[in-house]
Amino acid sequence: AVERTLSIIKPDAVAKNVIGEILTRFEKAGLTVVAAKMIKLDDEKAGGFYAEHKERPFFKDLVGFMTSGPVVVQVLEGENAIAANRELMGATNPKEAAAGTIRADFAESIDANAVHGSDSAASAEREIAYFFAAEEICAR
Ligand code: CMP
Repeated sequence: AVERTLSIIKPDAVAKNVIGEILTRFEKAGLTVVAAKMIKLDDEKAGGFYAEHKERPFFKDLVGFMTSGPVVVQVLEGENAIAANRELMGATNPKEAAAGTIRADFAESIDANAVHGSDSAASAEREIAYFFAAEEICAR
């Protein structure tokens, strides 16, 4: 089925100047960008986004990293978009990410891991609404 998923190009990848290369991977895989913006997150916005990790030991570092520079937030649309994006990203820890995936090619560590992608339909719905108003998403 055609799905939408939330993708974030994280501060490490923005700093490396690989926004275009990452978007190209999505497009080449048949995913379409239907919304996008560059923003600098603050503690409240990043903490709210990752609220499910609030009790995890890495939460503080995660919020610190996600607020360290601008990010590019997008809504990707396509057939099985949620799983397709996760396949393109590779494992959360770049050391475990399969060759040719975004994290294998652009990420340095489990914190600075280049991209985020929604992990389920329920997360996608919440995460898209967290960053985009309905009228900011352009149907194609
Ligand atoms: P992301 O998919 O954005 O979701 C939560 C982020 O927490 C994850 O990517 C990692 O960048 C970061 N993180 C840091 N340590 C861990 C860990 N031990 N397990 C999972 N995620 C972690």
